[in-house]
Amino acid sequence: MEKSDIGMIGLAVMGANLARNMERNGYRVAVWDHDPQAVERFTSEWGGGNFAPSCSLEEFAGSLSRPRKVMMMIRAGSPVDEVLSRLVPLLEPGDIVIDGGNSQFEDTTRRCDELRAAGILFIGSGVSGGEAGALYGPSLMPGGEESAWSEVRPLFEAIAARDPDGAPCCRWIGPGGSGHFVKMVHNGIEYGDMQLICEAYDLLRKAGGYSNDRLHELFTKWNRGDLAGYLMEITAAIFAVKEEDGTAVVDRILDKAGQKNTGMWAVRAALDVGNPLSLIGESVFARMISARRGERVAAAALLSGPVPSAVDNDRLADYVHDALLAARVVSYAQGFSLIADASRAYGWDIDKAGLALIWRGGCIIRSELLGGIARAYREDSRLPNLLMDPRFAARVGSALVGWRRTVTVAVAGGIPVPAFSSALAYYDSYRCDRLPANLLQAQRDYFGAHTYERTDRPEGEFFHTRWKE
Ligand code: 6PG
Repeated sequence: MEKSDIGMIGLAVMGANLARNMERNGYRVAVWDHDPQAVERFTSEWGGGNFAPSCSLEEFAGSLSRPRKVMMMIRAGSPVDEVLSRLVPLLEPGDIVIDGGNSQFEDTTRRCDELRAAGILFIGSGVSGGEAGALYGPSLMPGGEESAWSEVRPLFEAIAARDPDGAPCCRWIGPGGSGHFVKMVHNGIEYGDMQLICEAYDLLRKAGGYSNDRLHELFTKWNRGDLAGYLMEITAAIFAVKEEDGTAVVDRILDKAGQKNTGMWAVRAALDVGNPLSLIGESVFARMISARRGERVAAAALLSGPVPSAVDNDRLADYVHDALLAARVVSYAQGFSLIADASRAYGWDIDKAGLALIWRGGCIIRSELLGGIARAYREDSRLPNLLMDPRFAARVGSALVGWRRTVTVAVAGGIPVPAFSSALAYYDSYRCDRLPANLLQAQRDYFGAHTYERTDRPEGEFFHTRWKE
């Protein structure tokens, strides 16, 4: 029987679409799912193609050409370990296993080590772009066992999206869990971008009186300029979708956000390496507050606050545009700063310019901004923060007045803007050469003799004051 080039485990929509993408690109794909009905469904829909559906994992492993290449698109967490424990005994040294789910990067690092001991080469790959991306071209962020990359590379480059220059949105990221790490940060930036857009929407409707139709026009216009990107594009489209009675669908959706926790993992990972990922943190918290709808509704009846007063809505739109521009730069600056810190801490040596390039197509955060980010890191790979790139510094500088006015209007009107305002606080802290941490150090030294460094002595020397008799 003809052997397959690659095997796909997991035939939910992402796995099925990736398998179809591979087949469309000329590969013979073996497919298996632990649920026999999923295999049947796939076979009845797509069985006419160059697929080899398998009834058992044994049959699946036996149908692959060597070295075997197996990609898993299954729920992250223990299901991955369960499938691996059944799959690995069926493989031989030199075979390759790729996990394309949203796995936690620490799990991927561990699995790389465990599988290496069995002679199996493990790759953990970020896959972004949702269902359509999986089918027509995702952005791919593979990391792990680099010796497997040359075997997998032609396939990955064939199925990946193309960036605006026509290059595949796929690059080797680094060892261990680095591929899943950058995908996690991608999702954190996605949370940040989405929250910023939601805050813009809230201000425009509550303080500016914008209707959904006007929001559709405004966001469509913004998507043609320096705010252009996939999330802006779908937001503009959302405002135009109506139910049969003419009500915009967005107005019928309950204001209760869901999440599958990749944003939370990014914040936890940032805390682990001491990185102030504040905007993404606020975006995660904003989803959590929204989810406590019952509490909020009760509080709305009890807790007082200002009523937003009407603001000249053309000027407000300009302010909000600038706030979005500047705060998005801060969001990306924080995300890339986390990647730099983690890359150092875990010894990954991640190429930030290359990463920005592969996020320009296929993925959810693809946007205009990424070209400039790639250029900034190409010119200076050791840039401590995107805000220190002269072009980004100027870009944020020119948006500052509008950004501050946006936050002022929101605060005065009692409209919550945690992402806009935390981004501004980050910016103002980052550019501040004298923060009040001197007092904080004094407090620590007072109650716990934690010591402090002095302004009149070299850094690294520590002192203690006997604050009281
Ligand atoms: C992507 C997305 C994808 C996803 C997450 C986010 O890059 O294609 O980031 O991974 O939509 O599941 O989901 P939550 O908003 O549910 O956390």
